[in-house]
Amino acid sequence: MTPSQASRSTPPTTSADIRQAYLDFFQQRGHKLRASSSLVPEGDPTLLFTTAGMVQMKDYFLGRTKAPAPRMTSCQKCFRTTDIDSVGDSKHLTFFEMLGNFSVGDYFKKEAVAWAWEFVTDVLKLPKERLWATVYLDDDEAYGYWRALGVPEERMRRYGESDNWWGPPGDEGPCGPCSEIHYDFGAEYGCGKPGCGEPSCPCGRFVELWNLVFMQFYQDKQKKRTPLPKPNIDTGAGLERFSAVQQGKRTVYDTDVFQPLLRGIARLAGTTYDKDESADYAMRVVAEHARGVTFLIADGVTPGNEGRGYVLRRILRRAVRFGKKAGLKSPFVGQIAQAVIERMGKQYPELVRQRESILRVIGEEETRFSETLDAGMAILNESLLDAGIRGDHTLLGTEVFRLHDTYGFPPELTEEIARERGFTIDRAGYEREMEAQRERARASTKFTVGERGSVDAYQRFAKSGLRFVGYDTKRHKSKVVGILAGGAPVQGAEKGQEVEVVLQETPFYAEGGGQVGDTGVLRGPRGVIQVTDTQRPLADVFIHRGKVVEGGVAVGDSMDAEVDAARRDDIASNHTGTHLLHAALRKVLGPQVRQAGSLVAPERLRFDFSQLVALAPEELSQVQALVNDKVRQDVPVRYKVLPYAQAVAEGALAFFGEKYGDEVRVVEVDGDADAFSRELCGGTHVARTGVIGLCLVVSESSVGSGMRRVEALTGRAAEAHVQSRLGLLERVARQLQATPDTLDARVKALQDELDKERKRASALERDVAKRAVESLLADVRQGDGVNVLAARVPASTTEALRETGDWLKAKLKSCVLVMGAVIEEQPRFVVMVTPDLVQKGYHAGDIVKKVAAVAGGGGGGRPELAQAGGKQKDKLDEALRLVPQFVKRS
Ligand code: SER
Repeated sequence: MTPSQASRSTPPTTSADIRQAYLDFFQQRGHKLRASSSLVPEGDPTLLFTTAGMVQMKDYFLGRTKAPAPRMTSCQKCFRTTDIDSVGDSKHLTFFEMLGNFSVGDYFKKEAVAWAWEFVTDVLKLPKERLWATVYLDDDEAYGYWRALGVPEERMRRYGESDNWWGPPGDEGPCGPCSEIHYDFGAEYGCGKPGCGEPSCPCGRFVELWNLVFMQFYQDKQKKRTPLPKPNIDTGAGLERFSAVQQGKRTVYDTDVFQPLLRGIARLAGTTYDKDESADYAMRVVAEHARGVTFLIADGVTPGNEGRGYVLRRILRRAVRFGKKAGLKSPFVGQIAQAVIERMGKQYPELVRQRESILRVIGEEETRFSETLDAGMAILNESLLDAGIRGDHTLLGTEVFRLHDTYGFPPELTEEIARERGFTIDRAGYEREMEAQRERARASTKFTVGERGSVDAYQRFAKSGLRFVGYDTKRHKSKVVGILAGGAPVQGAEKGQEVEVVLQETPFYAEGGGQVGDTGVLRGPRGVIQVTDTQRPLADVFIHRGKVVEGGVAVGDSMDAEVDAARRDDIASNHTGTHLLHAALRKVLGPQVRQAGSLVAPERLRFDFSQLVALAPEELSQVQALVNDKVRQDVPVRYKVLPYAQAVAEGALAFFGEKYGDEVRVVEVDGDADAFSRELCGGTHVARTGVIGLCLVVSESSVGSGMRRVEALTGRAAEAHVQSRLGLLERVARQLQATPDTLDARVKALQDELDKERKRASALERDVAKRAVESLLADVRQGDGVNVLAARVPASTTEALRETGDWLKAKLKSCVLVMGAVIEEQPRFVVMVTPDLVQKGYHAGDIVKKVAAVAGGGGGGRPELAQAGGKQKDKLDEALRLVPQFVKRS
């Protein structure tokens, strides 16, 4: 009997059983089960995270893609950022699971209402008198359905847009009126103020259990609503809230979802939960954020300073700070993440798959932040004190920025701490500092200002209607509209001068989107300019940097601009290669792969992407094989210019954080409907993939936490690489008197031979040493009334030195042994004391310290065995000579 069958007689109580009962209930009513999609919405840069079950259904509702079934149900992982600062109280969550049922143009209000009612009253068996229903102001239809099911008028309410209208998620999207089921914990939990006693009172007496959205409109950025092709149903119920009411608890933190985590955290902190409210608050923050962090990383988010990465960083750091308050010692977040993985890994196998990476990313980030947390707190305390003395109770923007920049305090964290002490922060001042820093970074990485003048110098060309014409041509005649020398505008320049030339139209591609700038020549009536780089200091200003190599140039000249064609062809080959590689990586590793940066140069390409673990060799060869299949198929590469929203709707990969204009260029490889690759891209590409010839991945490595880098070669560079590797193979084979085919076996044979020889040599060495050591027995002296032997030993490793010692000890029975040798150019000592002498108070560690000190070193160890190194090898003998003085009881 499944839990849900059981639920007909016994209502489900655990969160796992409730989830199952819900999904079973809707599957029995013809709904297709959909797996939860990623927390990172696919191909939808308008949305930071998946915030509801409907996110993966959006395109079906909009009629852009055909739904796999008209009725669907899911338990969707969701993440909301709006309440981060409130997490810790007993209500708010960032990460939660949303149960939902969806109709794509199939059933509508009547069924949605009836099934929701049946589920809560018949499956969950919630007492009807505790349930309320709300509808949108004029939604008489929904009102009527609830009434027909027996909900009395006194437990029904009509609310306006702020309560009973849902969506759109993000800037634009589907939306509609909604109807909600609320649960009443009872008058004893109310605030008693006027208006308490109905669901709209925020005091906590009521909890919203289920939201049924009647998805009927599309709302655009201007907030204009147009009816959707067909009305749809989107419902959402928080699993954690269902769990609370089923388990008879007031808050989600008292349920089986959080209690095991909270108990674990309390144990780590050496306390118990539910003893002290401020400690409980801190522990709730830790539990909630650790859970969120675990799920975000599993879906490919890595800590960063923007977008999703920033949210992850912010909650992880908030967890570390509150953990400290609760008495936890860093690192601790990883331990809680482990507990999350154990509890939820069955439902979300990605947690188990990514366990290692989750723990690694958390570990790195937590260590980094906890190192600066104390220092940052000290600075913050001082700044708050200053602000108090100044009497304005506002933390200066420069201080908030410094805490962020030097100590890793997200401004929201600083703000929260300040608020706890009755202060505010100067947010605008902070933003100004940030902007200034961004400007500095832009200036230093993107564009060299200073000796070449400031960005202002280029402003004058911004409205000149300059155009890039180089997608289809590498040569073009155009007019010089400006010349800069040393950053200042000039009318002309002569041979030998470094200049920046602005043309009305140019076939030269300016560095952007990872692709390097073009080089080439500009030929005019007066002379020739060799262009060594093309840049774009402002969106519509292209400048050619180079040197006048013949004659001169003047503003107004007509010039024949010619791009270095072979170089551009190599670049194009690498750029298309990058797109193929990106598509292949997503096909092999999964859609969580996200581009993080790229370099497209003539001689190579580099592609950085979010991926937590290293690629297995077979994955890498699979990626390369997929790319080269496409190369051999010689498929066309096409581009089109589309409105941004349409491009994204058609599935073009766009990346959060990138800025795109209203019109975007979409580059497609192979096919229209089902393109192998489709990306928003302004770069230059080959016309057909066959031109690439061959794509070779030459390295795969890590670049920071959660980020991998692949480097590859295409075309001529790939050929040259193969050529040089084959040459190397030939040369090595010849040196080893083999052929490339027999090289493997030859190397193996040589290795075996070497191993055998090594063993023989060390046996001989040991033999020689033993003989030499035997002669040492004669050197035993008396010191402090015991046998002392100090000797230089012909050993080449510390192990050999110790082995000699063991052997001597066995012979001498009762002694203090001090042996020295020069190992890898440094003096090394091993001291041994037999047990009887240890009993008497001789200590090898003490002795070795004194001996090594003579040779400029130090060391230590146990009473019976100790070793040390020194710096001056020529002091070795002297140290050994002095040994008898050092042998003293301690
Ligand atoms: N989209 C609605 C919500 O998030 C119902 O799923 O509440």
